[in-house]
Amino acid sequence: MLSNLQQQPADALLALIKLHNDDPRTSKIDLGVGVYRTGQGDTPVFGAIKAAEKRLLETQNSKAYLGPEGDMGFVHALMPYVFGKADPTMQGRIEGMQTPGGTGAVRLALGLAKRAGVQRIWMGVPSWPNHAQIIADLGLELKTFAHSAADGVADMAALRGVLGQVAPGDAVLLHGCCHNPTGIDYTNADWDEIGPAIAASGVLPILDLAYQGLGAGMEEDAYGIRRVLSAVPEALIAYSCDKNFGLYRDRVGAVYVMMAEAAQVAAALSNGHALARAAWSMPPDHGAAAVRLILEDPALVADWLGELDMMRGRMAQVRARLGAAGKAGAVDLTLLGAQHGLFSIVPLTPAQILIMREKHGIYMAGSGRINIAGLTMGNIDAFIAAVAEVSA
Ligand code: LMR
Repeated sequence: MLSNLQQQPADALLALIKLHNDDPRTSKIDLGVGVYRTGQGDTPVFGAIKAAEKRLLETQNSKAYLGPEGDMGFVHALMPYVFGKADPTMQGRIEGMQTPGGTGAVRLALGLAKRAGVQRIWMGVPSWPNHAQIIADLGLELKTFAHSAADGVADMAALRGVLGQVAPGDAVLLHGCCHNPTGIDYTNADWDEIGPAIAASGVLPILDLAYQGLGAGMEEDAYGIRRVLSAVPEALIAYSCDKNFGLYRDRVGAVYVMMAEAAQVAAALSNGHALARAAWSMPPDHGAAAVRLILEDPALVADWLGELDMMRGRMAQVRARLGAAGKAGAVDLTLLGAQHGLFSIVPLTPAQILIMREKHGIYMAGSGRINIAGLTMGNIDAFIAAVAEVSA
């Protein structure tokens, strides 16, 4: 039987990690997978996480099972940051569960949508490649529309068009902030229109918030999803702490359901518990427990937010430098200065991206996506010069 299994291509994004690691050139630049890096090119553990882990080591007295919902203290402590401090449960209409990272959250959100009868997912493209993979693996139909327009802004006309034609059984998947891979977010004015338009269309919103705090700020980055949630009766929210707490390999995420009535929440979420039980049974505990300890302690919260501010500041500096570079060969870098989060697209052809890698040791995704945080004041000029050379 097992010889029926055909060789599958490696995940292109994850394969870049190995390609980069195997490159002996000291001048190589890793702009591939989305991890934050300091100006020295490191991805350190947050100080607040180190402190929480120390506390966890000293105080955690059992590793007995928690259940498919994971650490509910973590799930609840996160809610004011995601949904706002005023009423993070929206009168008891929102509840969640812990997931293995943002991928687990997206997987569960889409699985819940499918169980609820959703058949088609509308999604702006390009998107994070794993979105389409999960949609395909669940046997859902993917319908796409343009995420961004030629002038480097989100393509509201395309989204409007979709919301005007959706049918019962459709869901729309939107990135809450720091769009991956384009860095092009809907503006607040766009979200003011999107919320009511989603409500009027009847489509189920699935909101993916994987980079809160890495765009304009924790509150600012939640504007879009809060605007949608205030307008619609129900929604699914996939959340990741992998980036904003730097916990990548510890896999820390959550999925939240918002129902029209508080009384419907338990039944909806019980489906999440069943799906989780059949997939991973229980999420890994350690990272979520560390996040909970941070969120329970105002001093650690201040440390964590300070570290996030620093990360944002560094990325803003890189973006400013790229934006100021203007034209590099045929590529206009100006727009990158105004984009948000960890990613932007540099419009190079696959052949040019290969030359970037082979000749210049610069690793970027096949879509032309770069990880902004992979650039430092020490390597950014080399990057700009390489873009100018390959695109000339
Ligand atoms: C990325 O897009 O680079 C990250 O979200 C990592 C991943 O899992 O793809």
